[in-house]
Amino acid sequence: MSERTFLLAANWKMNPTPAAALVNAHGDQSKNPYHPHADIDVVVFPTFLDVQRCMDAGLIVGAQYGHPEVSGAHTGDVSMAMLKTIGCRYVLCGHSERRNDHKETDNDVAAQAIAALEQKIHPIICIGETLEEREKGHAEAVVKKQLKGLPLESDVTIAYEPVWAIGTGKTATPTQAQEMHAFIRSQLPKDRRDSTRILYGGSMKVENAEAMLKQPDIDGGLIGGASLKPEEFGKMIEIAEKMIIN
Ligand code: 13P
Repeated sequence: MSERTFLLAANWKMNPTPAAALVNAHGDQSKNPYHPHADIDVVVFPTFLDVQRCMDAGLIVGAQYGHPEVSGAHTGDVSMAMLKTIGCRYVLCGHSERRNDHKETDNDVAAQAIAALEQKIHPIICIGETLEEREKGHAEAVVKKQLKGLPLESDVTIAYEPVWAIGTGKTATPTQAQEMHAFIRSQLPKDRRDSTRILYGGSMKVENAEAMLKQPDIDGGLIGGASLKPEEFGKMIEIAEKMIIN
């Protein structure tokens, strides 16, 4: 396996924070499967309302979005600078739900990632094609276009999330995912190819986690639905940890 550390990220989207995540992770860690681990990176992405509560519980926390401008007339938004002030370590940029719901463009996503880096927040930049684009044979071209303009020479994480696999129960096969991850890696600047993590997202669950994580270019997961179930998320972490030991 590669030298890249696995990263398992729980994206809770607009859902209530699982109660288990708020049990103080500095205490009995068996009660909080989202607690920081020694050998793999575990990060949670609650709604803005719960970012502070999750940090207080001892978790490593990211935000689901951050506005690139420091402050100003942007009703409903929270800036990267504000996230930094409260101690947020990661941020999602360009999740397909935000590209769709909020009409975020590739340029917007790049601006978010650049602003995150300026604030020393680690961006996880989401890319991925729709079913129609895949069926037309355009998946690689779409992903290539989404990568253009991103600060890939910096320390970022990419999440490949095929839109057709998100929340649908339809997972990309490990082979399909690996092929796309290898393609994405080939598009990175040469000196970042080995070190940049590329996560898979889209109906990742206990049943397919090992097969996905075994792929040489898959460095972890951005997990939605299954991450809301503490037991299931805990099992996925166990799977990743066992793969490191073996
Ligand atoms: P699901 O795991 O629910 O398919 O969601 C994936 C996702 O969008 C993570 O960001």
